[in-house]
Amino acid sequence: MSRRKIVAGNWKMNKNNNDALQLIRDILATNLPRDIHTVLALPSIYLKNGVDMLKHIFGIDVAAQNCHQEQSGAFTGEISAPMLSSISVPYVVIGHSERRQYFYENNEQLAQKVDAALANGLQPIFCCGESLDIRKSGDHVIYVSEQIRESLFHLSDDKWANIIIAYEPIWAIGTGETASPGQAQEMHAALRSMIGIEKSADIADNLSILYGGSVKSTNAADIFRGADVDGALVGGASLDAGGFLEIVDALAQS
Ligand code: 13P
Repeated sequence: MSRRKIVAGNWKMNKNNNDALQLIRDILATNLPRDIHTVLALPSIYLKNGVDMLKHIFGIDVAAQNCHQEQSGAFTGEISAPMLSSISVPYVVIGHSERRQYFYENNEQLAQKVDAALANGLQPIFCCGESLDIRKSGDHVIYVSEQIRESLFHLSDDKWANIIIAYEPIWAIGTGETASPGQAQEMHAALRSMIGIEKSADIADNLSILYGGSVKSTNAADIFRGADVDGALVGGASLDAGGFLEIVDALAQS
């Protein structure tokens, strides 16, 4: 798959059933630009409804926010990639910093989750990003490159067509403090270059790299100016249809 422009909304653990379904309806009632791929990363409990509501609509899909690395078994409370696949969920967010921080997911386990997703026909939206301390130390590119090497570099070349990367600096998530357009572009370019050198130019060129961390309608256009920024993974601002549409529009116009 070649490089695509994508805006994914990560709803995290927000919205009750009625509000979630209404927000999907509100997003569908907006005029989503057709050349952007829009993804809604819903809480698992709403995924089946989301799939049913979106299945005939071009350019918009749901994502799960996580999946377990095992196919099935005694893992109470978990959701497997085959389960997601069985209700036709096309995407799954893997390695979000909140999963790494609160559920102790590490690079090795995330590599297994990526494998489970791909083996079941799901496209991983693989998240990476550094803490404020690492950013201040100046080692942010090395650190994020290592996250990618450890969780994705075991994949054979053909698998990369189904990978999307989301760079989300932890210090910019939910803080209102976004990376500057220059900081986002610097990291995206560094990752693309590293993947180009260590994997192949073809893989690097065709990879969509999204930025996440306090993206809003007011800063999206600036962030999307970066040549290596192919879209956004949006948290808080994806919970309002109007604001979310403005971000998708900003990408369409970039
Ligand atoms: P915010 O947009 O709320 O900062 O969240 C970003 C994020 O974590 C998306 O996955």
